[in-house]
Amino acid sequence: MTFSNSPKEIPQHVHTRLHELREDIQHHDRLYYLKDQPEVSDSVYDQLFRELQDLELQYPDLVTPDSPTQRVGGILLDKFQKVQHEFPMLSLDSHVKVEDVRAFDQRVRRELDIESLDYIVEPKYDGLSVELVYDSGTFIRGSTRGDGRIGEDITVNLRTIRSLPLQLRDAVSVPQRLVIRSEVYIPLKDFHLLNQRLTEAGEEPFANPRNAAAGSLRQLNSRLTASRPLTITCYDLKSQGSDSSATHWDAVSKVGKWGLPIPAYRQRCRSIDDVIAFHAAMESQRDQLPFEIDGIVVKVDRYDWQQALGEKSRSPRWAMAFKFPPRKEVTKVHQIMVSVGRTGALTPIAMLNPIDIGGVTVSRASLHNMDEVARKDIRPGDTVKVERAGDVIPDVVARVDVPGEIRSAPFIPPATCPVCSSHTIQEGPILYCTGQTVCSAQLKGSLELYVSKGALNIDGLGKKTVAQLVDQGLVKDLADFYTLTKEQLLSLEGFAEKSVSQLLEGMEKSKQTPLPRFIFGLGIRNVGAHIAHVLATHLGSLEKLREAKKEDLERIHEIGPEIASSVENFFQEPRNLVVLQRMTDVGVSIETMEISPLASHQPLAEKTFVLTGTLQGFSRQQAKQRIESLGGRVTGSVSKHTDYVVAGTEPGSKLDKAQALGVTVLDESGFVELLGSQP
Ligand code: IVH
Repeated sequence: MTFSNSPKEIPQHVHTRLHELREDIQHHDRLYYLKDQPEVSDSVYDQLFRELQDLELQYPDLVTPDSPTQRVGGILLDKFQKVQHEFPMLSLDSHVKVEDVRAFDQRVRRELDIESLDYIVEPKYDGLSVELVYDSGTFIRGSTRGDGRIGEDITVNLRTIRSLPLQLRDAVSVPQRLVIRSEVYIPLKDFHLLNQRLTEAGEEPFANPRNAAAGSLRQLNSRLTASRPLTITCYDLKSQGSDSSATHWDAVSKVGKWGLPIPAYRQRCRSIDDVIAFHAAMESQRDQLPFEIDGIVVKVDRYDWQQALGEKSRSPRWAMAFKFPPRKEVTKVHQIMVSVGRTGALTPIAMLNPIDIGGVTVSRASLHNMDEVARKDIRPGDTVKVERAGDVIPDVVARVDVPGEIRSAPFIPPATCPVCSSHTIQEGPILYCTGQTVCSAQLKGSLELYVSKGALNIDGLGKKTVAQLVDQGLVKDLADFYTLTKEQLLSLEGFAEKSVSQLLEGMEKSKQTPLPRFIFGLGIRNVGAHIAHVLATHLGSLEKLREAKKEDLERIHEIGPEIASSVENFFQEPRNLVVLQRMTDVGVSIETMEISPLASHQPLAEKTFVLTGTLQGFSRQQAKQRIESLGGRVTGSVSKHTDYVVAGTEPGSKLDKAQALGVTVLDESGFVELLGSQP
């Protein structure tokens, strides 16, 4: 069979699917790497990734340099100094099936032209990989993987990890310069204690230990990092100069002798059968291990053979991850609920008899969309297999046939919205409520988005207040926010003179909002914060956006036909134009923007600051201007939505509040550093 196709023969659906897969994967990468808030399980992600790899293998002409398959790692944040890695930080090809692992072994032996070889196997720690650099035995720098070539300098935070020696033992035998790869993670017991502590303090707990480790390492305030139970293990040595180990095993052993932690449970395997047996043994111990692992890593032991096998662009050819299949358990669905989101999409959710899956109690699982319920034929009362991979939202994998079990009638997608009774329509696999602003679920969702931190950022207007305003009929669309009176607000639960005047002040301030935030706040389908920013920097004003035709929009880099249609449709809907006009009438005036690409560079966009105490080098006004010139916003009070509190000398109670809420606190030098690291 040959895989090469001339471009002429490539069917349209292949182009479309490639595009969709790349967009989806990039979206999930952002959620995973930037927000630590994945919305799909690792196995769903892996499936998408593999589908993309397979398609690109079939149509090599369609591989683009920016395809997710061509990158080494995650995404860069703007807040830390960038550092170039001494060696690219590669990723690993991963396999779940035994036959693929055997194929790996066959390829290795064939390419090396040998009968047998040793593999080293180690647990695959589910944490964050970092590069450590030691100079004459002293820890001088550590960085995250970033995009694999350039990472973020997190030296200060890494120094807070107790198990990481700042000075190596036996410094005489240590090479002048050492580069070590390692994984930072949080042991399970500490993870549970940390989440308990966060919950007690009224904060959001982390979804899993990996996210907790990532969130803790990427703190600008290293004191916060220090309070987190991070630990580290080192699994790869890359030294320049005098290191003379001939094998991976010896090199890692040496790293251990210098006082660095190395993987527990590592082992030498004489054959691929030993590797498979080790994998099985680790999988059966998985729930008893003190840390989370998602498989094992298999590495060719001899360095000369590693070198002979070489590397691909994103992974070495001498190593692989042999992952565990996701954890599954069987339970019963007692009900199928339907929730309505901001866009009106109806999502079926399986309510389950609670079940423990690998230490986490699961009582609901997503059924994604109506087509999926039909395809899997899930009905209330059914016995189902539930999968929890990578510790995110569990999935209902399939129905389990129980002989003799009497089944209820098939689940029928609702013809009307469970919230507002408007009729529903099917668009592709998704069922939508047609109620728009008549539907209180959609209305609440769009109002919440409008006032949220990334959009208009109106202090004091949370989910609960929005719900009250809608339920009492005080707000029926976005423009209604600006007509609320003091009396109306005072009638709400939990509001008094002071909170009402703060809220009114916040609304008044929001009338002057930067264009990208306003566009995002409108909740146009397919227009997230990033796309809103792209539209704003290319078009410069709301008028231009409103007048733009689909073809104009599609000319903008990153704007495809789907987004362009959504934008055009939004501004063709008379109801939306009326709301925008009413906003203008009450004084909402959206700032226009310079269209130059330089002026649009706003590294602190969507970041909220609170200033407290006296700064030596800036007046309050100057500090505020600097923040705003980089796209950030300064507000008066600290909430859990605040990104940074800048504390000068004699700070007030805002500092205490920030500490209680776990908000990042910067002293003046930290603040200067943050501003300084922005171009
Ligand atoms: S070796 C070039 N060993 O898995 C080889 N990686 O999917 C570099 N990981 O980025 C990796 N435990 O974050 C290696 N014992 C181990 C590991 C390990 C966890 C992570 C690491 C890497 C990812 C690859």
